[in-house]
Amino acid sequence: MRAVICTKYGLPDVLQIQEVEKPTPKENEILVKIIATAVNSGDVRVRGLAVEGFMKIIMRLVVGISKPRKPILGTVFSGVVETVGNKVSKFKVGDKVFGMTGFKFGTYAEYITVNQNSNVIEMPKNATFEEAVAIIFGGQTAIYFLEKAKIAEKVNSKVLIIGATGSVGAAAVQIAKHHQAEITAVCSSEGRKLISELGVNNIILYDKEDFTKQTDKFDIIFDAVGKTTKKECRNIFNENGVYKSVSSGYASETIQQLQLLKELFEKGELNAVIDKTFQMDEIIDAHRYVDSGRKKGNVVLKINE
Ligand SMILES: NC(=O)c1ccc[n+]([C@@H]2O[C@H](COP(=O)([O-])OP(=O)(O)OC[C@H]3O[C@@H](n4cnc5c(N)ncnc54)[C@H](OP(=O)(O)O)[C@@H]3O)[C@@H](O)[C@H]2O)c1
Repeated sequence: MRAVICTKYGLPDVLQIQEVEKPTPKENEILVKIIATAVNSGDVRVRGLAVEGFMKIIMRLVVGISKPRKPILGTVFSGVVETVGNKVSKFKVGDKVFGMTGFKFGTYAEYITVNQNSNVIEMPKNATFEEAVAIIFGGQTAIYFLEKAKIAEKVNSKVLIIGATGSVGAAAVQIAKHHQAEITAVCSSEGRKLISELGVNNIILYDKEDFTKQTDKFDIIFDAVGKTTKKECRNIFNENGVYKSVSSGYASETIQQLQLLKELFEKGELNAVIDKTFQMDEIIDAHRYVDSGRKKGNVVLKINE
């Protein structure tokens, strides 16, 4: 099968398409023919070893010393079950599934095997493969941090989302809306149109205005791009206000988050925000685009038709 191999840490041209062995499912695994994956901020961070100082050592220890130990990057997939192991009961051949592999990576490839009990479920019934794959990464991260902020317990909370146009931010806006929050979004002038389309009226353009100097106060501040500190936001908290940032700890992915994303998509409460779609052969261009840090929502990579 064809797969994108990350040959070493570096610029996007370290990525090469190579022929590798097609995996065979073990007894509890399914073999998925991947139709689409996405190029996410996490992938380009790993490829470029793009972390500061001491974190570089930690990342080399976790991901691989001189190059990624798992050379096929990519963490999200949507596709069709092609074969199943002899103990698989949750899925059958032909099922359309979507999921997240996390630190196991491996989705920039024509096929992947995943355990039937891992972070994989049936795709939203009304989603295309591109839509399904685009809601996973930002969606799971947004749910994780907003749940940490206990959004479900705060009725009609006032929520500030900083970096609302990224993959995490655009999902966070929609998850917060699902919880009936009153949302204010911080984005650039370029991102304004997208945020309006997501139904948010209170928009602060960070290239025009310093949002930390406004008079409104918030119950939850979620920095979805990790550009602020809690201290910088100290004047815009309500009493008992909570601050969460993608820079403070790692999100863990659960099957419940994936189920919620499926449910919200099926109900029309969650849209897939897709900025661009690239073909597998265009992987280097896709990584260059995501490296810019300017993408709006998600970048999809088509693997199979
Ligand atoms: N902790 C975790 O577990 C976890 C999980 C997932 C992601 N992350 C991290 O979360 C961050 C966001 O991830 P992502 O996938 O959403 O990234 P992304 O999609 O690449 O985010 C890019 C977006 O951020 C906007 N942006 C850039 N600078 C900004 C600023 N100063 N203020 C407001 N918006 C700004 C950009 O629009 P403009 O340029 O137009 O402003 C663009 O729309 C990344 O650093 C990623 O590594 C952490």
